[in-house]
Amino acid sequence: MTDAHTSRQGHVFDDYSNSDVNLFFASYEDIKDLCKIINWAYRGKPSSSSSQEPYSGWVGEQHLLSGDRITSEQLRELIDDETNTIILVAKLKTPSGLEIVGCCKVNRFARNLQVNAEDGKDASVEFGLHAVDPDYQSQGIGKLLYNGAMRIAKEHFNAKRVYLYVISSKQNQIDWHLRQGFVDTKQTAPFPFDDTNRFKAKVNPDEIKFTILVKYLP
Ligand SMILES: CC(C)(COP(=O)(O)OP(=O)(O)OC[C@H]1O[C@@H](n2cnc3c(N)ncnc32)[C@H](O)[C@@H]1OP(=O)(O)O)[C@@H](O)C(=O)NCCC(=O)NCCS
Repeated sequence: MTDAHTSRQGHVFDDYSNSDVNLFFASYEDIKDLCKIINWAYRGKPSSSSSQEPYSGWVGEQHLLSGDRITSEQLRELIDDETNTIILVAKLKTPSGLEIVGCCKVNRFARNLQVNAEDGKDASVEFGLHAVDPDYQSQGIGKLLYNGAMRIAKEHFNAKRVYLYVISSKQNQIDWHLRQGFVDTKQTAPFPFDDTNRFKAKVNPDEIKFTILVKYLP
Protein backbone atom coordinates (compact mmCIF):
# COMPACT_ATOMS: atom_id res chain seq x y z
CA MET A 1 0.00 0.00 0.00
CA THR A 2 1.33 3.42 -0.90
CA ASP A 3 -0.11 6.87 -0.62
CA ALA A 4 0.35 7.49 -4.33
CA HIS A 5 -2.68 8.47 -6.37
CA THR A 6 -4.44 5.92 -8.47
CA SER A 7 -4.08 6.40 -12.22
CA ARG A 8 -7.75 7.28 -12.64
CA GLN A 9 -8.48 10.82 -11.60
CA GLY A 10 -10.91 13.63 -12.21
CA HIS A 11 -14.32 13.72 -13.90
CA VAL A 12 -15.70 10.45 -15.13
CA PHE A 13 -17.57 11.99 -18.07
CA ASP A 14 -17.07 15.41 -19.64
CA ASP A 15 -20.64 15.51 -20.90
CA TYR A 16 -22.54 14.24 -17.91
CA SER A 17 -23.61 15.81 -14.63
CA ASN A 18 -26.52 17.71 -13.28
CA SER A 19 -26.07 21.38 -12.53
CA ASP A 20 -24.78 20.85 -9.00
CA VAL A 21 -23.36 17.35 -8.86
CA ASN A 22 -20.56 15.82 -10.89
CA LEU A 23 -19.19 12.28 -10.98
CA PHE A 24 -15.52 11.60 -10.24
CA PHE A 25 -13.32 8.52 -10.04
CA ALA A 26 -12.67 7.64 -6.40
CA SER A 27 -9.21 8.46 -5.09
CA TYR A 28 -7.47 7.83 -1.79
CA GLU A 29 -8.37 11.33 -0.58
CA ASP A 30 -12.05 10.35 -0.77
CA ILE A 31 -11.78 7.26 1.42
CA LYS A 32 -12.55 8.84 4.78
CA ASP A 33 -15.69 10.67 3.62
CA LEU A 34 -16.84 7.83 1.38
CA CYS A 35 -16.59 5.33 4.18
CA LYS A 36 -18.64 7.58 6.44
CA ILE A 37 -21.35 8.15 3.83
CA ILE A 38 -21.64 4.49 2.80
CA ASN A 39 -22.02 3.41 6.41
CA TRP A 40 -24.55 6.16 7.09
CA ALA A 41 -26.58 5.19 4.02
CA TYR A 42 -26.67 1.49 4.85
CA ARG A 43 -26.62 1.55 8.64
CA GLY A 44 -28.04 4.93 9.61
CA LYS A 45 -26.73 8.43 10.18
CA PRO A 46 -26.63 9.70 13.75
CA SER A 47 -29.24 12.36 14.25
CA SER A 48 -28.17 15.80 15.46
CA SER A 49 -30.72 15.34 18.23
CA SER A 50 -29.53 12.76 20.75
CA SER A 51 -33.12 11.70 21.46
CA GLN A 52 -33.64 10.45 17.91
CA GLU A 53 -32.56 7.18 16.30
CA PRO A 54 -30.01 7.18 13.48
CA TYR A 55 -31.76 7.51 10.12
CA SER A 56 -30.86 6.11 6.74
CA GLY A 57 -33.33 7.55 4.26
CA TRP A 58 -35.80 5.53 2.27
CA VAL A 59 -33.94 2.22 1.87
CA GLY A 60 -31.38 1.60 4.59
CA GLU A 61 -30.56 -1.66 6.33
CA GLN A 62 -30.20 -0.47 9.89
CA HIS A 63 -33.27 -2.45 10.97
CA LEU A 64 -31.68 -5.65 9.59
CA LEU A 65 -27.98 -5.50 10.33
CA SER A 66 -25.36 -3.94 12.53
CA GLY A 67 -21.67 -3.69 11.71
CA ASP A 68 -20.14 -1.30 9.21
CA ARG A 69 -21.02 -1.96 5.58
CA ILE A 70 -17.45 -1.17 4.60
CA THR A 71 -14.07 -0.38 6.14
CA SER A 72 -11.49 2.07 4.84
CA GLU A 73 -9.12 -0.84 4.11
CA GLN A 74 -11.74 -2.50 1.91
CA LEU A 75 -12.37 0.76 0.08
CA ARG A 76 -8.69 1.23 -0.55
CA GLU A 77 -8.45 -2.29 -1.96
CA LEU A 78 -11.33 -1.59 -4.30
CA ILE A 79 -9.75 1.66 -5.50
CA ASP A 80 -6.48 -0.20 -6.06
CA ASP A 81 -8.17 -2.93 -8.10
CA GLU A 82 -8.23 -0.77 -11.20
CA THR A 83 -8.45 -3.63 -13.70
CA ASN A 84 -11.70 -4.90 -12.29
CA THR A 85 -13.38 -2.11 -10.37
CA ILE A 86 -14.53 1.47 -10.86
CA ILE A 87 -15.96 3.51 -8.01
CA LEU A 88 -17.89 6.60 -9.02
CA VAL A 89 -18.10 9.41 -6.49
CA ALA A 90 -20.81 12.09 -6.61
CA LYS A 91 -19.52 15.49 -5.51
CA LEU A 92 -21.76 18.46 -4.87
CA LYS A 93 -20.61 21.99 -5.64
CA THR A 94 -20.91 24.08 -2.48
CA PRO A 95 -19.66 27.60 -1.68
CA SER A 96 -16.81 26.05 0.29
CA GLY A 97 -15.81 23.54 -2.40
CA LEU A 98 -16.78 20.04 -3.50
CA GLU A 99 -18.61 17.87 -0.99
CA ILE A 100 -18.88 14.08 -1.36
CA VAL A 101 -22.54 13.05 -1.28
CA GLY A 102 -22.64 9.54 -2.72
CA CYS A 103 -21.01 6.74 -4.66
CA CYS A 104 -21.49 3.47 -6.47
CA LYS A 105 -19.31 0.64 -7.75
CA VAL A 106 -19.12 -1.28 -11.00
CA ASN A 107 -16.87 -4.34 -11.07
CA ARG A 108 -16.26 -7.31 -13.30
CA PHE A 109 -18.63 -10.03 -12.21
CA ALA A 110 -16.54 -12.45 -10.19
CA ARG A 111 -18.93 -14.14 -7.81
CA ASN A 112 -18.34 -17.83 -7.78
CA LEU A 113 -21.79 -18.54 -9.09
CA GLN A 114 -23.08 -19.33 -12.53
CA VAL A 115 -26.23 -17.25 -12.39
CA ASN A 116 -27.00 -17.42 -16.04
CA ALA A 117 -26.44 -19.95 -18.81
CA GLU A 118 -24.73 -17.21 -20.81
CA ASP A 119 -22.24 -16.33 -18.07
CA GLY A 120 -18.70 -16.75 -19.26
CA LYS A 121 -19.62 -16.05 -22.87
CA ASP A 122 -19.44 -12.28 -22.66
CA ALA A 123 -18.61 -9.67 -20.10
CA SER A 124 -20.80 -9.22 -17.06
CA VAL A 125 -20.44 -6.71 -14.28
CA GLU A 126 -21.88 -6.22 -10.84
CA PHE A 127 -23.38 -2.93 -9.68
CA GLY A 128 -23.32 -2.14 -5.99
CA LEU A 129 -22.21 0.02 -3.09
CA HIS A 130 -24.87 2.46 -4.23
CA ALA A 131 -25.08 4.99 -1.44
CA VAL A 132 -26.17 8.58 -0.98
CA ASP A 133 -25.78 10.59 2.22
CA PRO A 134 -29.22 10.32 3.91
CA ASP A 135 -29.37 14.14 4.08
CA TYR A 136 -29.17 14.30 0.27
CA GLN A 137 -31.39 11.39 -0.74
CA SER A 138 -34.51 11.69 -2.94
CA GLN A 139 -32.94 14.57 -4.90
CA GLY A 140 -31.82 12.63 -7.98
CA ILE A 141 -28.22 11.90 -6.92
CA GLY A 142 -28.81 8.14 -6.71
CA LYS A 143 -30.24 8.15 -10.22
CA LEU A 144 -27.31 10.20 -11.53
CA LEU A 145 -24.93 7.60 -10.09
CA TYR A 146 -27.01 4.74 -11.41
CA ASN A 147 -27.07 6.14 -14.95
CA GLY A 148 -23.31 6.77 -14.77
CA ALA A 149 -22.78 3.17 -13.65
CA MET A 150 -24.79 1.76 -16.56
CA ARG A 151 -22.72 3.86 -18.92
CA ILE A 152 -19.46 2.63 -17.37
CA ALA A 153 -20.74 -0.96 -17.61
CA LYS A 154 -21.25 -0.57 -21.33
CA GLU A 155 -18.51 1.81 -22.39
CA HIS A 156 -15.69 0.69 -20.10
CA PHE A 157 -16.39 -2.99 -19.45
CA ASN A 158 -18.30 -3.70 -22.67
CA ALA A 159 -20.75 -5.60 -20.48
CA LYS A 160 -23.83 -7.35 -21.78
CA ARG A 161 -25.25 -8.03 -18.32
CA VAL A 162 -25.29 -6.13 -15.04
CA TYR A 163 -25.92 -8.10 -11.84
CA LEU A 164 -27.22 -6.71 -8.60
CA TYR A 165 -27.32 -8.46 -5.23
CA VAL A 166 -29.96 -6.90 -3.04
CA ILE A 167 -31.19 -8.04 0.36
CA SER A 168 -34.41 -9.91 -0.38
CA SER A 169 -36.55 -8.03 2.11
CA LYS A 170 -35.67 -4.61 0.64
CA GLN A 171 -38.71 -4.75 -1.60
CA ASN A 172 -38.79 -1.03 -2.45
CA GLN A 173 -35.20 -1.31 -3.64
CA ILE A 174 -35.99 -4.40 -5.72
CA ASP A 175 -39.07 -2.73 -7.20
CA TRP A 176 -37.07 0.34 -8.18
CA HIS A 177 -34.50 -1.77 -10.03
CA LEU A 178 -37.21 -3.78 -11.77
CA ARG A 179 -38.55 -0.46 -13.05
CA GLN A 180 -35.05 0.31 -14.40
CA GLY A 181 -35.17 -2.86 -16.52
CA PHE A 182 -33.62 -5.42 -14.15
CA VAL A 183 -35.24 -8.85 -13.99
CA ASP A 184 -35.28 -11.33 -11.14
CA THR A 185 -32.97 -14.29 -11.88
CA LYS A 186 -35.00 -16.29 -9.32
CA GLN A 187 -31.68 -17.16 -7.70
CA THR A 188 -30.55 -16.16 -4.24
CA ALA A 189 -27.17 -16.04 -2.52
CA PRO A 190 -26.27 -16.17 1.17
CA PHE A 191 -25.35 -12.99 3.01
CA PRO A 192 -21.61 -13.08 3.82
CA PHE A 193 -21.94 -13.51 7.60
CA ASP A 194 -19.11 -16.02 7.37
CA ASP A 195 -16.64 -13.67 5.65
CA THR A 196 -16.38 -11.34 8.62
CA ASN A 197 -17.36 -11.19 12.24
CA ARG A 198 -18.41 -7.60 11.65
CA PHE A 199 -22.02 -8.22 10.65
CA LYS A 200 -24.66 -9.07 13.20
CA ALA A 201 -28.23 -9.77 12.19
CA LYS A 202 -30.94 -7.87 14.04
CA VAL A 203 -33.58 -10.27 12.73
CA ASN A 204 -33.41 -14.03 12.16
CA PRO A 205 -30.21 -14.40 10.06
CA ASP A 206 -31.97 -16.98 7.88
CA GLU A 207 -34.17 -14.14 6.68
CA ILE A 208 -31.18 -12.17 5.37
CA LYS A 209 -30.16 -13.34 1.95
CA PHE A 210 -29.60 -11.77 -1.43
CA THR A 211 -31.99 -11.72 -4.35
CA ILE A 212 -30.00 -11.63 -7.58
CA LEU A 213 -31.27 -9.31 -10.29
CA VAL A 214 -29.84 -8.92 -13.78
CA LYS A 215 -30.16 -6.26 -16.43
CA TYR A 216 -29.40 -7.04 -20.07
CA LEU A 217 -27.67 -4.17 -21.81
CA PRO A 218 -28.40 -3.48 -25.49
C1 LIG B 1 -30.51 3.73 -3.06
C2 LIG B 1 -29.99 5.16 -2.95
C3 LIG B 1 -28.56 5.21 -3.41
C4 LIG B 1 -30.87 6.07 -3.83
O1 LIG B 1 -30.37 7.38 -3.75
P1 LIG B 1 -31.31 8.67 -3.87
O2 LIG B 1 -30.42 9.84 -4.08
O3 LIG B 1 -32.28 8.69 -2.79
O4 LIG B 1 -32.06 8.35 -5.25
P2 LIG B 1 -32.80 9.38 -6.22
O5 LIG B 1 -33.26 10.60 -5.51
O6 LIG B 1 -31.96 9.57 -7.43
O7 LIG B 1 -34.05 8.52 -6.59
C5 LIG B 1 -33.89 7.34 -7.32
C6 LIG B 1 -35.26 6.74 -7.49
O8 LIG B 1 -35.79 6.39 -6.24
C7 LIG B 1 -37.06 6.97 -6.05
N1 LIG B 1 -37.17 7.48 -4.68
C8 LIG B 1 -36.46 8.47 -4.13
N2 LIG B 1 -36.86 8.67 -2.87
C9 LIG B 1 -37.85 7.76 -2.63
C10 LIG B 1 -38.67 7.46 -1.51
N3 LIG B 1 -38.59 8.17 -0.37
N4 LIG B 1 -39.55 6.45 -1.62
C11 LIG B 1 -39.67 5.74 -2.76
N5 LIG B 1 -38.94 5.99 -3.86
C12 LIG B 1 -38.04 7.00 -3.80
C13 LIG B 1 -37.10 8.14 -6.98
O9 LIG B 1 -38.44 8.38 -7.38
C14 LIG B 1 -36.25 7.70 -8.12
O10 LIG B 1 -36.97 6.93 -9.04
P3 LIG B 1 -37.33 7.53 -10.48
O11 LIG B 1 -36.03 7.95 -11.08
O12 LIG B 1 -37.94 6.38 -11.14
O13 LIG B 1 -38.23 8.67 -10.21
C15 LIG B 1 -30.09 5.66 -1.49
O14 LIG B 1 -31.41 5.58 -1.08
C16 LIG B 1 -29.22 4.92 -0.50
O15 LIG B 1 -28.10 5.32 -0.24
N6 LIG B 1 -29.76 3.83 0.12
C17 LIG B 1 -29.03 3.08 1.18
C18 LIG B 1 -28.05 2.11 0.65
C19 LIG B 1 -28.70 1.06 -0.22
O16 LIG B 1 -29.60 0.37 0.20
N7 LIG B 1 -28.22 0.93 -1.46
C20 LIG B 1 -28.74 0.00 -2.42
C21 LIG B 1 -28.19 -1.34 -2.24
S1 LIG B 1 -28.91 -2.46 -3.44
